[in-house]
Amino acid sequence: MSATGWLVTGAVLALLAALPYWLPRTVVALRVRIFAWVGGEEGIQAPGREVPAEEFKKVYGHPAANGRSRGAALSDLFWYWLSPGPEVHQEHLEPGPRYDDVARTTRQILAGLSRQQWTELVGRCTRRVLDELPGQAHVQVRLRDLMMPVWAEVYYEVVFREPCPRHVRDLITGNADDVVSALKCTGLRHMDRRARLTAYLRDRLAHDPPPVPLPSALSEREQAYYLQGTFFNTAVVQMSEAMAHLLLALATHRPVQDRLLAGEEDPDFLDGVINETLQHFPLFGVAHRITSGEIPRDGRAPIPAGSVLLFNYPEYQGSGADVFDPDRWLRQDTRPSASIPFGVTANRPCPARGFAVLTMRVAAEETLRRFRLESSAEHTRSLPSRGPCLLVPHTTSAAGSPAGRRTRLAVMRLADRWASVPRSLTQLVLGSYMVWDARRQGLCRTYFAASSGGSTSVTAGR
Ligand code: HEM
Repeated sequence: MSATGWLVTGAVLALLAALPYWLPRTVVALRVRIFAWVGGEEGIQAPGREVPAEEFKKVYGHPAANGRSRGAALSDLFWYWLSPGPEVHQEHLEPGPRYDDVARTTRQILAGLSRQQWTELVGRCTRRVLDELPGQAHVQVRLRDLMMPVWAEVYYEVVFREPCPRHVRDLITGNADDVVSALKCTGLRHMDRRARLTAYLRDRLAHDPPPVPLPSALSEREQAYYLQGTFFNTAVVQMSEAMAHLLLALATHRPVQDRLLAGEEDPDFLDGVINETLQHFPLFGVAHRITSGEIPRDGRAPIPAGSVLLFNYPEYQGSGADVFDPDRWLRQDTRPSASIPFGVTANRPCPARGFAVLTMRVAAEETLRRFRLESSAEHTRSLPSRGPCLLVPHTTSAAGSPAGRRTRLAVMRLADRWASVPRSLTQLVLGSYMVWDARRQGLCRTYFAASSGGSTSVTAGR
């Protein structure tokens, strides 16, 4: 072979060997462009040129930043991912009596447990799920998958006030996993999995409804959709994602985990780890609002009515920062002020904000009581890998030698990086298809055109 031939072959081989390092990032950038192109450019970025970081909270909390779905092309995509029943999902309901009825019911259901009861319930469900793991030295898990059954059991019991039967737990995790996989574009929607849970809930509501009365403004079918959307999708997905981030952060920051395992830390330290995790990996990427009136601003043109505001959490919280420093949460003067893990109080914040950290702490303590966590997987906000992690029981013989540990982590790193190559291509293809299909189906657009905000239902789509 000529010198040029060797050079070209070398360059191609180098490019191929480095695939896991450049392809996923290129694909993400390409996906963002395709999404913007198919979805249509819209929206005011916050923080951004028009809404600087200093005005972020003020604009987000303004009473006119209150439209949720109507009038934004982006809503078609969220409604598509959340079907069936996006029109009664608390997050996407327009302000008004229906929203008030739904939000009040959510508050009542969640307020049914004292802090002690939350602690007991989450501890019990976590232990039961961990008991199901095979009893071998090292168990390799995906953290999101490990945690999902825990929250399915917890939220079933929160709603129905009785333990979750195994087959119902499978229905709930089947539904939640399907929604989150579609949201992350790692899989298409499987409406049959979602419909199976709806059928169960409709039957259950007809024969044995939960103790807290469901919103009277909703039909029986919509009540099933409400429970499915808020409790058996959002609650289960958000808590599983938050726990996957927390446990992966512990697995990849050994000194932090060691401090917790030593048991000498102030109880606030674990809360600091949770806060730092939600600061680096906020569960929301972008929350959007449609303005119902003008938003006046000092020294700038007002934001007109009908604008789509895009509140970018990672950007606002400065999530790209390298240092993972839980200690900064322990002192008032070092806490980051740009931190809104549960939204802004003035504009529809998360109803779980009062106990989500508590319940994460309980689930983390139960896990750390049994296992040391080890991982070398890449930790990104969207975590499409679902958080590969080794659970190593706390026995010296099971932990193995340091050399063995290094080898395990090296193998995991290699497998994780190479798995990202086909996965990112899959995300590109499926994501583009879903953005196109959501736009074609126009669930939100059609709903408002047909009902003018009334009680028309949206067909679930395919
Ligand atoms: C660590 C876990 C969680 C985090 C970080 C989180 C974060 C958030 C954020 C940032 C928002 C506001 C989004 C916006 O402004 O549009 C929100 C809204 C919401 N969250 Fe959570 N969430 C979590 C857990 C939960 C759980 C367990 C539930 C259910 C019980 C839940 C139900 C909701 C609902 C219904 C809304 C919409 C509120 C409304 O529009 O009235 N979340 N969440």
